[in-house]
Amino acid sequence: MTRASRIAFALLPLAGLATGLSAQVGSPAGPVPVEYLTARRADLLKRMGNGIAIIRSSEQRSIEGDYPQDSDYRENNDFFYLTGLETPSSWLVLVARDTLAPQVYLYLPARDTMAERWTGARLGPGPEASALTGIEETRPADQAQRQIRGMVRSSTVRGGKLYLLLGEEAVSDTFFQQLALGSGAGVTDLRPSLAAMRLVKDADEMRRLRMAIDITAKGHLAAMRAARPGAWEYELEGAAEGTFRSLGAERVGYPSIVGTGINATTLHYDKSRSQLQAGELVVMDMGAEYGFYSADVTRTIPASGKFSPRQLSIYNLVLATQQAAMDSIRPGITMGRLGQISRDYMKAHSGDLCAPGTCDQYYIHGLGHWIGMDVHDVGNYATPLAPNMVLTVEPGIYIPAEKLGVRIEDDVVVTATGYELLSGGAPRTAADIEKVMKKK
Ligand code: GLY
Ligand code: MN
Ligand code: MN
Repeated sequence: MTRASRIAFALLPLAGLATGLSAQVGSPAGPVPVEYLTARRADLLKRMGNGIAIIRSSEQRSIEGDYPQDSDYRENNDFFYLTGLETPSSWLVLVARDTLAPQVYLYLPARDTMAERWTGARLGPGPEASALTGIEETRPADQAQRQIRGMVRSSTVRGGKLYLLLGEEAVSDTFFQQLALGSGAGVTDLRPSLAAMRLVKDADEMRRLRMAIDITAKGHLAAMRAARPGAWEYELEGAAEGTFRSLGAERVGYPSIVGTGINATTLHYDKSRSQLQAGELVVMDMGAEYGFYSADVTRTIPASGKFSPRQLSIYNLVLATQQAAMDSIRPGITMGRLGQISRDYMKAHSGDLCAPGTCDQYYIHGLGHWIGMDVHDVGNYATPLAPNMVLTVEPGIYIPAEKLGVRIEDDVVVTATGYELLSGGAPRTAADIEKVMKKK
């Protein structure tokens, strides 16, 4: 082997690694296929009409400073949705033009051999980035701001709009402020268009979500098996999160909530520091993130493995309320209407169960929300349901005076005629939960 061929040979795995670190290649979920990325960008360009959109990636966070416990790089959702990349300090530019073909530019930091001794190989501009994203024009990020200024000027001179993601960060960003001032066309918020697109999941998104939810159901089963009087909340959390990770989830979708007794009545209790007592109910709200998509599932279980008659009555009312809402899911209905159906159902069926009066005042949160790359995902809640929207259905009853909380949360996808339950892998009925807890 000549010296040159040895070097070339030695570099091959490194080239493979560069993609792996930057685009989910080698991750359990794998990369987003290029045809989906291209279709998403084409859809967005069409919605833009005539204009230019600038979308920035996330920035690397300081491992040694602010985030020693949470150092992994998580890409900005919109940037990932349109590029499939996980590349800090990068830019995506989309130029839509009424009559001419649209243009797409990707700016990535140039590779840096010395820095990569610490960070591992990074994806730079070039053919590899083009192959992963389907974007032909890839350029070094240090040219981004100057070139973007020029492109914004020529686009807005032609009557194009300037589109930015007008979140808090963008509004306070000096470069974006200067662009806005200089554009002469004002600024249009890009977020509603992207939110409308992300609300309806494509096949690759559904594959990721289904997997996140399947993994989550298995985690809930593991937590049910770990439960017993005397167990700590963190043991249940550990059983679930260990299962998530072992099945390919790269993160949790949100901090796990495992609350026993009075803690079950705190909606976002995330300390997990109490010990389960016989006779208590435990609310477990836990979801895996798989390939950037998050599940959101809640189960309520009896610490000792058997519901008391009182707990069972409340549990069954919540379950029936949830079922009534699910049975109403179909294209065209709104989330608001489903919420009202669930409240009306609970009111009509609770009698004096939560005495005095109905259980209505103990159902203190909304019925559900969109899920996707964010656990509370983007999307206008007035949008009538349509196939391939994914949402949670999660009624609950919380009675602090009795140290009793019940929430049942499932994930469903809207179909052409109704819905499909995605989280049925986690036992839902009291009998099925008792069966799992008995068998452990
Ligand atoms: N896990 C938070 C929620 O259910 O909305
Ligand atoms: Mn939820
Ligand atoms: Mn939840």
